[in-house]
Amino acid sequence: MIDLRSDTVTKPSDKMRAAMAQAEVGDDVFGDDPTVNRLQERAAEVFEKEAALWVPTGCMGNEIAVKVHTKPGQEIVTEDRGHILNYELGAAAVISGVTIRAVKSADGSGHLTWDEIEPALKIDPPYFQAATGLVCLENTHNFAGGSVMTAAACADVCERSHAVRLPVHMDGARIFNASVALGETVADLTRACDSVMFTLSKGLGAPAGSILLGTTEFIAESRIWRKRLGGGMRQLGILAAAGLIALDEGPERLHEDHANARALAEGLAEIKGIAIDFEKVVTNIVIFDISATGKTSAEIVAALKDSGILAIGFGNLIRMVTHLDVTSNEVGKTIQAISEICHQN
Ligand SMILES: Cc1ncc(COP(=O)(O)O)c(C=O)c1O
Repeated sequence: MIDLRSDTVTKPSDKMRAAMAQAEVGDDVFGDDPTVNRLQERAAEVFEKEAALWVPTGCMGNEIAVKVHTKPGQEIVTEDRGHILNYELGAAAVISGVTIRAVKSADGSGHLTWDEIEPALKIDPPYFQAATGLVCLENTHNFAGGSVMTAAACADVCERSHAVRLPVHMDGARIFNASVALGETVADLTRACDSVMFTLSKGLGAPAGSILLGTTEFIAESRIWRKRLGGGMRQLGILAAAGLIALDEGPERLHEDHANARALAEGLAEIKGIAIDFEKVVTNIVIFDISATGKTSAEIVAALKDSGILAIGFGNLIRMVTHLDVTSNEVGKTIQAISEICHQN
C-alpha cells in the first residue's frame, strides 16, 4: 500500500526500535524517567522555551494548553478550519468549558492576521458576553494544505494579543515542516507564543508522542492536567527514546517530503478535472478539488484503494500527505493511478 492518508502512519525506523529496546527508564509520574527528562530538556532547548512536557498525543497537548490558559465560560479564537475546532471532538467545550469563535482567513491561507482576529475579540465585554481567553494559531495549517506562517506574522499576532492581555497557543503539530519550508528556526517561529505543541509522531517518525512547551509555571500546571486526563504514563522512556531520534534527526529529511508533495501537486495539476494551485503546496500536504472530474471523492478514493493507494476524501476535496515511508517513485505511481481513474467512463 502507498499510504498517503497522513504522516501519522509513519513507522519507527530500525534505529528507533533499537533505541527503544535499550532505553533507560523510570517512573515518569515521579519525574524520574531519565530518557523522558532528556527529551523534554532537549525540546525546551531547541524551542528556547523554559520547560517542556511529553504528552501522549497532539490533541492532549492542545487541550491541556486551552485548559491552563482559560477559565470556563470564556471563548477562544481559532481559524475556521483549525484542528482544535474541527478535529478534537469538542474537547475544548468538554474539558475547559469554553466556546470557540471561528474566524475565516480572508486569503485562504489559514493564518489569521491581527486585523482578522481583533474584531472577533471580546476584551472586558459587557456582562452578557463571554470574554475571549486565548488565541490559537496553527503552523503548518493542516486543512489549508500545509500552509506556513512566518515568524514575523506570528510575532505580530502575539505582540498585539499580549497588548490586550491575551495569551497565544501555537498548534505546531507540523512546525518543523514550516521551519524547513521557510528556512526559519522553530524557536523563531514560536518565540512570542505562550505555549507550543509539536508532534513527534507525524513526519518526524516517532511511534507516539507530542511535546507541550511554555514557561516553567505553565508546564507545572500542564503536568497536573496531563495526570488528571489519564496521561500520566510510567516507563515512558521506551517511547521517549524514539522521540529523541525523531527530534534530532527527523527534521533533516523533511525537505524530501516537501519535494515529493510538490511533484505530486504538479502531476495532479496536469490531470483534466482536477483543480490545484501547486504554487501553494509548500510543505507535505496536498489538497485538491475533484469536482470537475465527474466523480465523487469517495469514488476516487475507493478506486485508488483498489490500486493500492490510500488517501482521504472529504466533500469535493481529496487530501494526500507525503512522509518518510513514501518514495518519489510511489508519487509517480499515484499520479498515474489518479489520471487513469479520472479518465475512465
Ligand atoms: C494540526 C494538528 N494539530 C493537532 C493534531 C493532533 O495530533 P494527534 O493525532 O497526535 O492527537 C493533528 C493531527 O493530525 C494536526 O494535524
